[in-house]
Amino acid sequence: MVDVKRYTLSEVAQNKGREGQAIWVVYKDSVYDVTNYIREHPGGEDTIIEEAGLDATKVFDSVGHTADAKTIMEKLKIGELVEHEKKYDENGKKKKKVVTVPPEKYNRSCINVITCGLLG
Ligand code: HEM
Repeated sequence: MVDVKRYTLSEVAQNKGREGQAIWVVYKDSVYDVTNYIREHPGGEDTIIEEAGLDATKVFDSVGHTADAKTIMEKLKIGELVEHEKKYDENGKKKKKVVTVPPEKYNRSCINVITCGLLG
């Protein structure tokens, strides 16, 4: 099994195509090197350059790219975001944010509810 390379969003942001840099974009937690592809892009170079170094998931989907585009992307993939920066689950669905309440805070708010209940 080949290990997938992991990148942080700030590493991706270093690749905006400036001064000979590569051009990377993120789509659904995967990182793509589109440096050599932009010239062939049917939607024009500028559309991708505007997203260079960023998470382009929303704009990419809003354009309604076909399965052809996804096939091309497979060849351009260079890695994935580090686990804690991932926003999608294994089915490509957006992860729900889990908010954990520290126990001491929870207790305090419980007491507040009881106190307010008694006073009110
Ligand atoms: C790895 C990244 C990308 C790949 C491989 C890709 C590929 C393609 C392909 C193959 C098409 C032709 C239609 C289709 O088959 O879907 C297309 C169209 C288009 N793409 Fe992308 N695309 C990428 C990223 C983006 C991004 C980030 C944008 C930003 C908005 C974008 C904007 C467009 C637009 C506006 C069109 C429509 C062109 C038209 O219909 O005249 N693409 N893209």
